[in-house]
Amino acid sequence: MGAALGIDLTLAADLLSQGKLVAIPTETVYGLAANGLNPDAVAGIFSAKNRPTFDPLILHVGSIEQAKSLCSDWPSAADTLAKTFWPGPLTLVLPKADLVPPLVTADNPTVAVRMPNNAMTLALLSKIPFPLAAPSANPFGYVSPTNAQHVADQLGERIDYILDGGRCAIGIESTIVSVTMDNTVTVLRLGGLDLESITEALGKPVNEVLSMHSSPQAPGQLDQHYSPGSTMIAWSPENTDIHNAPWALQTTEKIGMMWFSQQRAQQWLSAQNVEAVENTPGVKHYYLSGDGSDKEAAMNLFGTLRQFDKDGCTRVYFEWASESGLGRAINDRLTRASAKGTH
Ligand code: TXA
Ligand code: MG
Repeated sequence: MGAALGIDLTLAADLLSQGKLVAIPTETVYGLAANGLNPDAVAGIFSAKNRPTFDPLILHVGSIEQAKSLCSDWPSAADTLAKTFWPGPLTLVLPKADLVPPLVTADNPTVAVRMPNNAMTLALLSKIPFPLAAPSANPFGYVSPTNAQHVADQLGERIDYILDGGRCAIGIESTIVSVTMDNTVTVLRLGGLDLESITEALGKPVNEVLSMHSSPQAPGQLDQHYSPGSTMIAWSPENTDIHNAPWALQTTEKIGMMWFSQQRAQQWLSAQNVEAVENTPGVKHYYLSGDGSDKEAAMNLFGTLRQFDKDGCTRVYFEWASESGLGRAINDRLTRASAKGTH
């Protein structure tokens, strides 16, 4: 019997107060939460996820005041960002206060804090006196969950309860920035808040430290993070005709086609005098968006990758997003998902 799915906030608050593990909905992805000030509870997160303890956790808070209590400094740039974007898909990395257990921060002198924009989880946070440590609720290295059933499928046996908040509205993890005492803002992970918005709020450009190497300061930057079971291969229909489409060339394996925009795919197909491809035998076609919206594509990305695994596709061909807005975060996840097997 796996953990129950439900919407009982009192039960969730009681379990968390007892040091147990509860999956929580956020606007980005589902989190695997525990009392962030209780080291035993936090240790439970690492073991349920098989997560190495060098990979620090984000503390989720219900207010800016609570975030401040977890940090030893609160520079003005952090205040601007929190007031502009919280609750929302932005995580701030700041000097930690002494009360934060070293296990949460993997012994780093900094702590990551975020106020998530989900009514159920904000209501839960208002019922408990502690912040919630919560990584994405997936086994280490796999694609993040964007609905409650994704969590139940993989971690249901290892946790105590799953708060079911429906589908995540953004679908890609938060953007992480560090803020130093001199108000230098550095992006550590691309995510659900686009950099254009951050730059506008600060009135100055931000630094970017987006390493693709495997011994990073932010382990979310490990190359093979977000790996689905299939081999992911970039493909573009541009300057290609239908006889050279992946499904025409690959006959031995079950092929997945992840189109960025249904509209663009259809335009290309009709230029090839093909009406529809959905029924090609041995091939699964999915569209991340109707008309190429990067927001819609981000929301559908992880669920679609899981669906290809369920469908038994061993090779999945995908199109890159354009390098702006959420397209940058989408391309970051696609780069990591397709890095599999190269290291
Ligand atoms: O949207 C999100 O951020 C989701 C939801 C549940 O809030 N959480 C999430 O957590 O993506 P996780 O653990 O999968 O990724 C958090 C990343 C990790 O890669 C970790 O390295 C980085 O945050 N991180 C945490 N604390 C840090 C710190 N003190 N310095 C640098 N990076 C840190
Ligand atoms: Mg994660």
